[in-house]
Amino acid sequence: MEKSLLMVKPDGVSRGLIGEIISRVEKKGFKIAAMKMTRINKELAKRHYREHNGKPFFEGLVEYITSGPVVMMVVEGRDTVRVLRSMIGTTDPKDAPLGTIRGDFGLDVGRNIVHASDSKDSAAREISLFFNHDEILDYEKADNKWVYES
Ligand code: RTP
Ligand code: MG
Repeated sequence: MEKSLLMVKPDGVSRGLIGEIISRVEKKGFKIAAMKMTRINKELAKRHYREHNGKPFFEGLVEYITSGPVVMMVVEGRDTVRVLRSMIGTTDPKDAPLGTIRGDFGLDVGRNIVHASDSKDSAAREISLFFNHDEILDYEKADNKWVYES
């Protein structure tokens, strides 16, 4: 099964949206294979968002993502990268469709509540940035036979 990294950003944590976001992930049928609350330091934030280094919003992005605790999850399931990206919605919450996390809860591109990996390669890189191997748990979800036909 495919893994992706999902993060509730500091605004999502401060606004009390952790449970809402976890709940959506669980109800969709995904398995949460790892989870922790942590505060990212600047060096790690810059490594995580390295593709944006030099862009006008980069410094603000690093400030934002390090400004308070975040909740990190490794989410596992079928087509996880693609499906999570569609569940979070487009980058600017003003344009994100209702029914997506950003579309339902945000109004500012610089305060968009969640992060999800944008490709399988990014997922592998980001998961290894924030989780050790032994923090990613292998277990069977009881509802798997109802979530997947085969
Ligand atoms: P993320 O990486 O956080 O999941 O977001 P994303 O893929 O939807 O968007 P990305 O292009 O990777 O941008 C990373 C984060 O930078 C902030 N941003 N601000 N002011 C701006 O124009 C701007 N553009 C991007 C957002 O917080 C975005 O999530
Ligand atoms: Mg991105």
